[in-house]
Amino acid sequence: MRAAEGARVLAVDVAPAPPEGAPGGVEYLRGDVSAEHTWERVAAWGPIDVIVSNAAAVEVAPAHETTLESWNRQLGVGLTAAFLAARTLLPRMETGSMVLTSSVHALVGLPGHPAYAAAKGGLTALTRQLAVEYGPAVRVNCVLPGPIMTPAWDRVDDEGRAGSVRATVLGRFGTPGEVAAVIAFLASDEAAFMTGAGAGVVVDGGWSIVKDSA
Ligand SMILES: NC(=O)c1ccc[n+]([C@@H]2O[C@H](COP(=O)([O-])OP(=O)(O)OC[C@H]3O[C@@H](n4cnc5c(N)ncnc54)[C@H](O)[C@@H]3O)[C@@H](O)[C@H]2O)c1
Repeated sequence: MRAAEGARVLAVDVAPAPPEGAPGGVEYLRGDVSAEHTWERVAAWGPIDVIVSNAAAVEVAPAHETTLESWNRQLGVGLTAAFLAARTLLPRMETGSMVLTSSVHALVGLPGHPAYAAAKGGLTALTRQLAVEYGPAVRVNCVLPGPIMTPAWDRVDDEGRAGSVRATVLGRFGTPGEVAAVIAFLASDEAAFMTGAGAGVVVDGGWSIVKDSA
């Protein structure tokens, strides 16, 4: 159920305020998802039926130029945050669903993303693990988006964007709404017999099935 349909929704982000154009009816908590106390604040907010673990941090550099601080930061936001959310909230849920946002980076290697890829691959394994530990009460699934037009692409130039679009079958970026629709489906009773789908729910316009060897 969405905020527009009457659900109480809490968005958690480090940004000082929600972005312009954020949907109405969503409450906002400023917090660092990689910090334990943030999840205690979420637990205090009210009973939780659905968790969507979606934040990420990307710092582009090859492995030999990635500092330990950068590695820990990216793993903290991209992987540890999902663990902290699960550890804090899943034992308190008698029923419900958790959806983790991984990436096609969990499936293929791309230069300059060692920590991001490790975090995203870790999320797919964590999904299966949490599904086993907290089922049947709570279902846990994971989506793997491909190129989706969000502010994350602000740092990519036109050539880089065009290359990513060319690498899809559908010939375009996906929209945040197209990923949100899949997350909403996985969180809902429509997906009542799905749990532990750690690497199967790819939302990438065919990006991960194309290999141009010409
Ligand atoms: N956009 C894409 O092409 C794409 C592709 C594959 C996967 N994804 C995944 O989708 C998810 C959403 O990505 P996006 O494109 O909207 O990214 P984005 O960079 O536009 O947004 C990331 C959000 O995470 C927040 N954030 C960063 N560190 C945080 C922290 N410590 N605590 C709380 N919030 C924090 C940022 O403030 C920002 O609002 C991410 O998990 C990303 O890896 C995106």
